[in-house]
Amino acid sequence: MTMTNLAGRHALVTGGGSGIGAAIALTLAAAGARVTICGRRREALEQTAARNRAIDVETADVTDAESIARLYRNAQAARGPFDIAVANAGSAISAAAENISRELWADTLNVNLTGAFFSVQPALAAMRERGFGRIIFVSSTAGLKGYPYVAAYVAAKHGVVGLARALALETANDGITVNALCPGYTETPMLERAIGRAAASARRSEADIRDAFAADNPDARLLQPQEIAEAALRLCADDSAGITGRAITIPGDDAW
Ligand SMILES: NC(=O)c1ccc[n+]([C@@H]2O[C@H](COP(=O)([O-])OP(=O)(O)OC[C@H]3O[C@@H](n4cnc5c(N)ncnc54)[C@H](OP(=O)(O)O)[C@@H]3O)[C@@H](O)[C@H]2O)c1
Repeated sequence: MTMTNLAGRHALVTGGGSGIGAAIALTLAAAGARVTICGRRREALEQTAARNRAIDVETADVTDAESIARLYRNAQAARGPFDIAVANAGSAISAAAENISRELWADTLNVNLTGAFFSVQPALAAMRERGFGRIIFVSSTAGLKGYPYVAAYVAAKHGVVGLARALALETANDGITVNALCPGYTETPMLERAIGRAAASARRSEADIRDAFAADNPDARLLQPQEIAEAALRLCADDSAGITGRAITIPGDDAW
């Protein structure tokens, strides 16, 4: 097996201050990339960046066009155009379908779908020019199958899979790959919040809910963020040039 060497590459990881995004940022940096991470909370971003000097911080909200434009201006002026863009920022608030407000619907689509697209879109032109690019969307198994009480999130994550497939076709001859990672339940702050809310509303213990979530994964355990990061790293390798337009489940494809 060859080691993936990302020396000379500049990567963007949205939502890099915690969970899966932090693991991806640290893994790409460990492989030699310069990494720019963004999110809304500067402190969380700085905690990730403190773990590897190749990681730089830009505070930005993926739902805010001006904020993303500023991120690109600052990051590219300092470290050059992005060779890799990972749209990982996301959030999930659960509600029964009849209780989903227009605001919750809009917020969920804004961060998980619209924000995912517009946080990578500005990277495309320079990738095309240089004939190399890796775009990775962190979707979810909720991008491929339904889950109850998160209809807006499921709709957004399905949208992300379609988006990756469409962009893959548009970039197929330009050395750019576009893929969606679809992890099952993964131990992150988002999952902890979901467990807390589900336990409170079902009046069950958090341990019970955690077990139920783990049981939903094919191998009946919660994933670690590092497992998603390893999949992202593989996609960034030069010899992954032929892998594009894929929805990649974690764990592996046949399990779902
Ligand atoms: N955990 C799971 O079981 C699981 C499974 C499948 C897929 N996923 C997906 O994995 C991705 C990462 O989630 P996670 O589990 O690692 O949860 P997390 O720790 O809550 O990470 C989400 C990150 O996104 C950032 N973020 C949220 N809204 C943002 C916005 N408007 N602009 C910029 N950044 C924003 C957050 O930072 P700020 O709050 O500082 O902005 C946070 O760092 C999400 O897309 C999620 O849907 C998670």
